[in-house]
Amino acid sequence: MALFRLLIIFVISIVLELYMFCEGHEMCANGLPLVKKASLKFCSLGNQDYGCCTEEYESTIKEKFDDLMAKIPENLAEACSSNLKEMLCHICHPLSGHSFESVVKLELPGMCPNYCQEFFQKCETLIQYLGKKSKKTYLLSKNSKDFCKKMETKDISYCYPDVKSNIDVMPGMSSNGNENNMATSHVSLGPECVCFKQMQGESILPMKIQELKDGSGRLLVAELAGILSIFHANGTKEKKPYFDIVDYINRKDYEDQHTSFGLPSFALHPNFNANGKLYVIYAKLIHGKLTHRVSEFIMTSDVQPEKTERILLELEPPYKWHNLDDLFFGDDGYLYIFNGDGGIQGDPDKLAQNGKSFFGKALRIDVDTRSGSKEYGIPPDNPFVNDDSMAPEVFAYGLRNPWRCSEDSGDIITGKGKSRIFCVDVGFNKYEEINIVKKGGNYGWNGKEGFSCFDSKICNKMEHEEFPIFAYNHMKGKSVIGGEVYRGNCIPHLQGKYLFADYYFK
Ligand SMILES: *[C@@H]1O[C@H](CO)[C@@H](O)[C@H](O)[C@H]1NC(C)=O
Repeated sequence: MALFRLLIIFVISIVLELYMFCEGHEMCANGLPLVKKASLKFCSLGNQDYGCCTEEYESTIKEKFDDLMAKIPENLAEACSSNLKEMLCHICHPLSGHSFESVVKLELPGMCPNYCQEFFQKCETLIQYLGKKSKKTYLLSKNSKDFCKKMETKDISYCYPDVKSNIDVMPGMSSNGNENNMATSHVSLGPECVCFKQMQGESILPMKIQELKDGSGRLLVAELAGILSIFHANGTKEKKPYFDIVDYINRKDYEDQHTSFGLPSFALHPNFNANGKLYVIYAKLIHGKLTHRVSEFIMTSDVQPEKTERILLELEPPYKWHNLDDLFFGDDGYLYIFNGDGGIQGDPDKLAQNGKSFFGKALRIDVDTRSGSKEYGIPPDNPFVNDDSMAPEVFAYGLRNPWRCSEDSGDIITGKGKSRIFCVDVGFNKYEEINIVKKGGNYGWNGKEGFSCFDSKICNKMEHEEFPIFAYNHMKGKSVIGGEVYRGNCIPHLQGKYLFADYYFK
């Protein structure tokens, strides 16, 4: 897990400039993901579109409330029932993870000072019924002021009940579908940190994670040695690999165990659940020559995977580094393949700017058809199909080592941002890049590294030039590792943000 851990540390510390040692938590105090507004009967969510309660969870709150009401003296129940109900229901609030951060976690939300004073005066005797932690806190408090001090949230802006007014700045959640610039509009709330939970079961050099979209919540994790493992939704690893070509690719025979050798990436066919087609990048020694492939395997039976192999692409790299890095299926159903410059220091053969070479390119192919003698089809709208100086597979060029690319699935409400291809490009010795890869774009290598000139003969004469959306120098990191635009709803303050990492050996 060492690689994972390093990546995680850099996601937190460098890239988003988050604070590494702050205590993070999920936004929902009950640990549930945010859900689109359920029709709650007991608790009300007001005008908010999202909250932390399903109807099922709400019924546990109602039970708790009824139990308490039955236990406490009648006059107290009469005076405090509405306070109690509202406070218990506050766990349905989309920011409840912050509010319930008080010393009596989950029994009561942390209260704003004025509200707490009022509550204490009116409902003091209720407190000891609320749970062990509440009772202890109450008994150890000298007076109302002391109690209310203990009940404070770490960040006062999340105290109950005023936290409710904060909801308007929830990123990606405004009910009016605000169309601001995604990269900058999202107001950040509270301490910006994310907790990572380690999955159980070792993975040796985990390379890529994809969900098996069959409703089981299972994840496929690629290991460089040539394995795809299954992790169950509960975080445990299945002992038997899902896919195993370790012996077939014989990674242990390589004299050099660099990450360019082995199984760095895979993708599932958009119709995988029906056809079981899996696409894998791997490297293998063939007659003593290191060969990189993109192959299709069919995962529908117990047949050894290599017996079902269809080789789509086979490349003999000019040098040992920066080879087939990543692949995924776009929204358009085509397979995007990202290939580095193949090489040694500074791309001496200028392959990334050579339109006929597959090195230093983003390629786009159709795995479901065939063009001529090729094992795949050329999408008719590929940018260079009518340009004799370019290979028809080329989608974009001028890449050095695009170590992870992904497509944005778009804002869950407005769809904004959908289909943007984010691709990082590992730099030579100065700058790391993040690009949005557009059809026909030239991302500059080896004319430029980041925004700076690398080869002065060509750096100001490149056609179709596209600039990075972000570049950072080697004071900040050494080799950028691409990620994904976050579109989940468990961590609202990451909504719409691109998460990436940086990796280097110390
Ligand atoms: C995790 O889930 C899998 C599949 O459902 C199950 O076989 C396994 O026993 C579970 N493990 C734990 C520790 O809950």
